[in-house]
Amino acid sequence: MNIKMILTSSDTLKPKPADALKIPFGTVFTDHMFSMEYLNGQWNGASIHPYRDLSLNPAALCLHYGQGIFEGLKAYRRGGRTLLFRPERNFVRLNESASRMVMPEVDTDFALSALKQLLKVERDWVPDVQGSSLYIRPTMIGTEARLGVKPSDEYLFYIILSPVGPYFKEGFSPVKIFLSTEHVRAVRGGVGAAKTMGNYAAGLLAGTKAAEVGYSQVLWMDALDHKYLEEVGTMNIFVKFDDELVTPPLSGSILAGITRDSVLTLTKDMGLNVVERQISIDEVIEGIASGKVTEMFGCGTAAIIAPVGSLWYKNNSYTVSDGNTGELTQHLFDELTGIQSGEREDPYGWVVEVD
Ligand code: PLP
Ligand code: COI
Repeated sequence: MNIKMILTSSDTLKPKPADALKIPFGTVFTDHMFSMEYLNGQWNGASIHPYRDLSLNPAALCLHYGQGIFEGLKAYRRGGRTLLFRPERNFVRLNESASRMVMPEVDTDFALSALKQLLKVERDWVPDVQGSSLYIRPTMIGTEARLGVKPSDEYLFYIILSPVGPYFKEGFSPVKIFLSTEHVRAVRGGVGAAKTMGNYAAGLLAGTKAAEVGYSQVLWMDALDHKYLEEVGTMNIFVKFDDELVTPPLSGSILAGITRDSVLTLTKDMGLNVVERQISIDEVIEGIASGKVTEMFGCGTAAIIAPVGSLWYKNNSYTVSDGNTGELTQHLFDELTGIQSGEREDPYGWVVEVD
């Protein structure tokens, strides 16, 4: 499929932000976007065009029954090169989410080439300062106008771009995590493993409870026993017990993070004892008290690697790593951001250059 190019005239281009590090996450968007539509069983009308509002019928199925999925990845610009980190994995995961939500798949090679073309158009928007990047949000929504509950027959797929700095206002500093005992995010057999919009809406109420006690992120427990760690609002979670690094297994109710997978590869190659197994909250609380829990961190595209400094559980606050960033957490942050930005060697072939 050809991609039609409709570019903004140079006198209507938006001013680029002076300092991407200072922009609240995801509030500034570039001049152009990519979109295509699904109609009569196929994708059509691929184009790169000026960023614009969507025109949707108020009865569009996504607005009522939540048929909407998305992805998140980043482009880095260093030394004149624009780099992507494992982008094919995002389009594969988009298709996995699509399959769970009864939505059509995209051709992953085509989607990646569309993204690269969009990035070439917007190359001056990719921030080149350390700690900043261009966040990429591929999105798919069901657009058919119909109030009966059914999978939409029509879809819109689009990609928008947003220059960003750190996801948390704290930057790369320990974050405070609130363990929710009242609410759950997802249950096995549900849609927790899909990157679908309702999962984030489901987390908002617990997020407000966390904010009331000064905590910024929710740590979810499993929905059946309320006993085992699942993931954080926008990140997967790792806990270091003495010399064992542990992360919950992909149980079907958490997102299979691409950063999680990268951390597993990096730490295994460092020779660490890395295990995917259930982690009970009792094990964590006891481990913090005894000193066995030495580090805890979350990881994800937007958040990168975020040290956990304190944990709120049943009206008590527990300090992790004396509230500081642990040695392994710091090392992983440096290694991952170094590979992503092309400043460190990439033995895994993870980095893709937009040529
Ligand atoms: N878990 C959730 C719920 C997320 O939203 C994200 C972010 O995308 C992650 C985990 C981490 O996934 P990734 O590393 O692929 O960004
Ligand atoms: C990402 O890390 O890309 C995410 O999707 C998290 C987001 C909800 C801000």
